[in-house]
Amino acid sequence: MLYNLTQANAIETTTDCLIVGIYENAPLTLSAKHIDEKTHGFITELFKHGDTSGKLGQTLMLHKLPSINAKRLLLIGCGKAGQLTAIQYSQLINQAFTTIQTTGAQDISCYLTEIEVEQRDESWKVKQIVEQASYTQYRFNQFKKQPAPTSKLQRISIYTKTATEKALSEGNAIGKGINLTRDLGNLPPNICTPNYLAEQALQLAKTYPAIKAEILDVAAMEKLGMGALLAVAQGSHNPAKFIILHYAGNTAEQAPIVLVGKGVTFDTGGICIKPRENMDEMKFDMCGAASVFGTFLALAELKLPLNVIGLIPAVENMPDGLAYRPGDIIKSLSGQTIEIMNTDAEGRLILCDALTYAERFKPAAVIDIATLTGAIIIALGFHTTGLFSNNANLADQLLAAANESNDAAWQLPYHAQYQEALNSNFADMVNSAGRDAGSISAACFLARFTENYPWVHLDIAGTAWKTGKEKGATGRPVALLVQFLLNHTKQGK
Ligand code: BES
Ligand code: MN
Ligand code: ZN
Repeated sequence: MLYNLTQANAIETTTDCLIVGIYENAPLTLSAKHIDEKTHGFITELFKHGDTSGKLGQTLMLHKLPSINAKRLLLIGCGKAGQLTAIQYSQLINQAFTTIQTTGAQDISCYLTEIEVEQRDESWKVKQIVEQASYTQYRFNQFKKQPAPTSKLQRISIYTKTATEKALSEGNAIGKGINLTRDLGNLPPNICTPNYLAEQALQLAKTYPAIKAEILDVAAMEKLGMGALLAVAQGSHNPAKFIILHYAGNTAEQAPIVLVGKGVTFDTGGICIKPRENMDEMKFDMCGAASVFGTFLALAELKLPLNVIGLIPAVENMPDGLAYRPGDIIKSLSGQTIEIMNTDAEGRLILCDALTYAERFKPAAVIDIATLTGAIIIALGFHTTGLFSNNANLADQLLAAANESNDAAWQLPYHAQYQEALNSNFADMVNSAGRDAGSISAACFLARFTENYPWVHLDIAGTAWKTGKEKGATGRPVALLVQFLLNHTKQGK
């Protein structure tokens, strides 16, 4: 896809399709007004005859309007002026592109930057337009004889007075990162194994010279003492891999940000096996890992002047004669012992060893991203990522990035009283504390391994993929993570 910025008046633009917003009960946007004047009141008449009302989400495609150069005009209802939220704005853009894709339009000119969104400037809107364009262009076709039709769209011009190329390149890099994350998430678990993820890391390093990849095999992990990670992996014929990504965008003195992604390529629950309903969706249990890959891709595309480390514990959680069992006591890399109560609480076991491993980088901050608990869906549903942190300043930075990137997150508490539920009669802790506040007790578990650095835990079990008819990975929270890194660069930290 080619993107460019334009300052051209809508009525003069030669394009396959103009996209223009119209409000409900409010004056026409500048471009709508220009078109209306040039066409002797065409849009005013549409309103008058009730063919459009400007209601939020309404679309109207018009062909061959007299006196303007564009072949088509797509009018998008933007609701009442001054009331559009950032999320509604991105939904509108999504709808516009979805509509365009059903036409033969190859190049379009988008004037939706004229629409007011509270607290968002033109650069933000340009970025959203590029991100949504890339999001709606995505298809996962590699296993279909009859692939889903792709759109004809090749070029997108975006009208702006103030935004610069930077907004385009940021949107483009984030869009690419998101789509890589979706691809990895959507792959079937018989293909996307721990070894496959390791190969993807090597591939990423091959494509981008600023990225280096290092893979630890089972023997290396045994030598280090990653007993928790290896316990989860021991029931699978697909051997565990520990993937280390290095992105060096700054001098070695700069303390790195470490991103840790849960990489369970399939979660059966192990001996505490899951019920069969929707079990296929447990192929998405590596979406945290996939989001680290996507973020690294965006980082490298944008050449951000930061040092970032990616850690991906990659395993498959299977029931087997050799599988770990409830009652087992295992020893983590930190030296702390863990009594297994539930083999389905495996995410925290692979993460805890990765979080201990993170210490060696003397990180400025560590962020883990994990499809960790079904309970976060009970708490926050499918729209919002759960956020936990041991550092108020870091938490605020991530919440700000979530807001800015339209990739919502909400902070939950996990104070000391919740820790008691993790007490064990036989070991330093249990791995599962039962049903109450399930996402919080999972965070409490991880907190025992993150005392030596500022840390944020993102529980993406509700946001990483969609279930039902639109089943598929969403690429969240790549937009949030990249925005956090962009902001971090600006702060010069
Ligand atoms: N991968 C799951 C979490 C999950 C479940 C994500 C459903 C999305 C949908 C995780 O490994 C898990 O099984 N968690 C358990 C924890 C429990 C055993 C303490 C859960 O959420 O039930
Ligand atoms: Mn599980
Ligand atoms: Zn899991």
